[in-house]
Amino acid sequence: MVIKKICCIGAGYVGGPTCSVMALKCPHITVTVVDKSKDRIAQWNSDKLPIYEPGLDEVVAECRGRNLFFSTDIETAIKEADLIFISVNTPTKTFGNGKGRAADLKYVEGAARMIAEMASGDKIVVEKSTVPILSNPEFLAEGTAIDDLLKADRVLIGGEDTPEGHAAVEKLCWVYEHWISRCNIITTNTWSSELSKLAANAFLAQRISSINSLSAVCEATGADISEVARAVGLDSRIGSKFLQASVGFGGSCFQKDILNLVYICECLNLPEVAAYWQQVIDMNEYQKSRFSAKVIESLFNTVSDKQITILGFAFKKDTGDTRESPAIHVATTLLDEGAKLHIYDPKVEPSQIIDDLTHLSVTEEPENVKNSVTIHSDPYAATMGTHAIILCTEWDEFVMLDYERIYKGMMKPAHIFDGRKILDHDRLIKIGFQVQTIGKRLARPLLTRMWGSPHQA
Ligand code: UDX
Ligand code: ADP
Repeated sequence: MVIKKICCIGAGYVGGPTCSVMALKCPHITVTVVDKSKDRIAQWNSDKLPIYEPGLDEVVAECRGRNLFFSTDIETAIKEADLIFISVNTPTKTFGNGKGRAADLKYVEGAARMIAEMASGDKIVVEKSTVPILSNPEFLAEGTAIDDLLKADRVLIGGEDTPEGHAAVEKLCWVYEHWISRCNIITTNTWSSELSKLAANAFLAQRISSINSLSAVCEATGADISEVARAVGLDSRIGSKFLQASVGFGGSCFQKDILNLVYICECLNLPEVAAYWQQVIDMNEYQKSRFSAKVIESLFNTVSDKQITILGFAFKKDTGDTRESPAIHVATTLLDEGAKLHIYDPKVEPSQIIDDLTHLSVTEEPENVKNSVTIHSDPYAATMGTHAIILCTEWDEFVMLDYERIYKGMMKPAHIFDGRKILDHDRLIKIGFQVQTIGKRLARPLLTRMWGSPHQA
């Protein structure tokens, strides 16, 4: 069987970009992406795609209608396909056994059942999300998805150790060989493939939690986390990537995959291993809380009725995705303390911000939240008349803003909390801002009474 038609179930952050690049690189294969959501498919067929990803518009413009199609006709696409990717969402379970840790497989099962019902003849089925069919985990990062897909470090394909399994693995290799060199396509058994995906994300997140843990030590001692990260990262065995201290990591993968790993370890009766990886998540929670607490403490221990600007709501730059964004944690903490928020993000839809902040998991008073949040389409309007700016996402445009103008419009003392360490702090201090950041002491620590201390005058 030569693969002529590919169907992908799930037109989300993974399925959409992956299939667009596949269609670009395999012009003789017809790629149909299907989704049960009519709205999503309509958006993929419009000029405004449902996700923002640099380079994606161009790839879709070239392939859509040629050999790339977006459709809600799941049945026909499954029937006609030689190879089917399952790219549906696998959120962390919010109920029952494994709640808060295990992946909720209901969407995967739903997709698998549809295939079983509708398919006739031989099909190769490939799982793209993180669960065990052929396993082909995705390593793309949002914001750089197209590049990651075009120039993947490696493609990982796991399959059953049977003649049919090997034959299916070979066919999927052939698809990727249209643009990835064979030596970068790794084939393994299914468990290795799935565990490698969890491990890669766990290692990456662990680096961030490690550097974030040290950022707390830096703030307490006067060390500078950027200097430490540079010195450590220059050791070629360690490397410099993913050592950027921040308000905390977000995104749909890191937390979900580590929680999954923890759950698997517990089920395998490996509690020490589970506790080891759980700590990466705990440190991330600590970092988000620590940053939020620092904001409140610096604003004289009360933010009640204070106007506060949040710049950036996406979990990282160059995406409109807010899943697990640390901005949600910061905003929720401030809202709980009675603050009035002014939020600006260049790509996140206002309705998404409101959904995130009024979700039942973060508030019992959604109406109050709505009344306390204003969403702006311009950063200058978002900062006008506010007491403080909190930078939560490292969008390039935030570095280029006219901070003199912003300072003039703000209440005094005007505070800036740089949760991403991207701003020119010395310049901001010269302008007059009270500046705080992660992993570096900029302002004098607040006056604390130390009765009986040897330093007491
Ligand atoms: C990640 C993996 O990188 C990717 O391989 C996998 O397929 C999916 O999960 P993604 O979540 O899209 O990708 O983005 P990533 O660039 O890894 O960033 C994740 C989070 O970590 C973001 O919130 C980012 O701001 C944060 N981060 C990243 C840091 O705080 N510091 C760093 O040094 C790097
Ligand atoms: P990811 O980041 O993993 O791509 P998304 O939530 O962005 O996750 O996308 C998953 C998509 O899968 C959603 O658009 C959802 O509507 C779709 N989906 C889930 N279950 C099914 C199903 N049984 N059939 C078709 N589409 C599905």
